[in-house]
Amino acid sequence: MDLYRDSSQTALRYLGHAGFVAEHNGVRLLVDPWFYPAFLHSWFPYPDNRDLVDVVRGERFDYLYVSHAHEDHYDERLLSTLDKSITVIVPRYRSKIMVRRFTALGFENIVALDHKESLDLAPGFTVTMYLDTSHKEDSGLLLDLGGFRFLDLNDCNTPMSELPGDIDLLAAQYSGAMWYPNCYDYPPDVMRKKVDAVRGDLLDTLYRKVRITGATAYLPSAGPACFLDPVLAPYNDRDATIFPQWEDVAGQFAEACPGVEVLRLFPGDTVRLDGSRAVERAPGARTSEDLAAYRERRRDEWSAFYDEPAEPVTAEEIESYFAKLQSWNKRFLGDFAKDIRLVADGRMWDVRLGRLAERFVIEGEEPYDPEYTLLLCPRTMRAIIEERTGWEEALLSMRVGLHREPDVFDLTFMSLLRYGQQPVQTMQMLRERQNTETIERDGLRMQRFCPHAGEDLTHAIVCDGVIECPRHHWKWEATTGKCVEGGTLPLRVEPLEA
Ligand code: FES
Repeated sequence: MDLYRDSSQTALRYLGHAGFVAEHNGVRLLVDPWFYPAFLHSWFPYPDNRDLVDVVRGERFDYLYVSHAHEDHYDERLLSTLDKSITVIVPRYRSKIMVRRFTALGFENIVALDHKESLDLAPGFTVTMYLDTSHKEDSGLLLDLGGFRFLDLNDCNTPMSELPGDIDLLAAQYSGAMWYPNCYDYPPDVMRKKVDAVRGDLLDTLYRKVRITGATAYLPSAGPACFLDPVLAPYNDRDATIFPQWEDVAGQFAEACPGVEVLRLFPGDTVRLDGSRAVERAPGARTSEDLAAYRERRRDEWSAFYDEPAEPVTAEEIESYFAKLQSWNKRFLGDFAKDIRLVADGRMWDVRLGRLAERFVIEGEEPYDPEYTLLLCPRTMRAIIEERTGWEEALLSMRVGLHREPDVFDLTFMSLLRYGQQPVQTMQMLRERQNTETIERDGLRMQRFCPHAGEDLTHAIVCDGVIECPRHHWKWEATTGKCVEGGTLPLRVEPLEA
């Protein structure tokens, strides 16, 4: 079955989640195709899009673009089956992770594009890369299809000041893709407030992207996924989690962005990009999912998690794992110190991070009050210790329970876990911290890039003596730069002389 009947058209076919096929003048670009479970067999596409996998495998594509290394975008099981002569477009990350991975899979033609670098795919069909220019390795792609400008931001946060304008159609995330706050052990009333705050922030960020890009139409994409392992079933609750479906937030969007057309697509649907933006519904397209039936259809896939090795780890294994992680990130850690606790299968280990010179894993007793406690099952712990998965993937799997005391986000600790295996990212964080560029606004001179993840504070909200970053909404006192919400890192700020 061909994706399109007419090869002279300009069209976009939705594959579910953040997956698309874009076509212009007979040239086809496959984008972020995701079909198989991600993150320790926990995430599945919602609704089920598996009936499209054979279509994608059987189809001819001229180009493939994969935005980043997260498994709901980089689906290795699917990618390894594609024709290796296809030209792969990847972001040029400092870590070179995308080039290395596609080379290892046997792809012969790989084009790595830098921030704002363009590539002509065919007459009238140009793509331009947009990177998250901070230490985070994520990207979006601007597709110019005969003058129609489609910006696929998936879950990428390119700084607002770097986003392109005059966009005809924007695809971007509206639902969460994070373990915070749902994996923390907050009491129900606290959890409710935190979930509401994160959902509100996600939408606020989306509204800004719509306004800044001038998008006249919006396509909800890049989530939410669903969780088929029964152990993870609570995360399918669309009210109590940061994973709402579009229908849960559509009213708020309509109020905030009046006049912006919403193209609600389901896997297999096609939208014509000929000015009409007419949607062709795929016959029999799934618009929702009976999760019990979906769980049964994919039983072999989610239950494969329980076939993984589960031998308990030893204190020596933990010590050697963290010793390596810390030695790779020595300069980033500086004088950082933190007591954490790992709990798995009724056993616990206290790890004194930042104290490499001495033995720093203590098993069993409770001599310290840890600031972070991480609860894992032995399979998850073993997968991390053996480096078959990283902390980022394990956290995204929602298979790690978290507790922190005090309840304050520690950027250095979480970055060590999330990016420590790619020290080039933690080194970039160091450079970001040392960046001295400033901006002047609202009577203040302040550092230009947010100390959290590098957002350009040119678009910050300054109100009632508080500076608020537009991306994850950390807040600082305008007079002192003290962080009052979100994290702990201060902002360099001073009043401008009159
Ligand atoms: S980039 Fe995250 S709060 Fe600013």
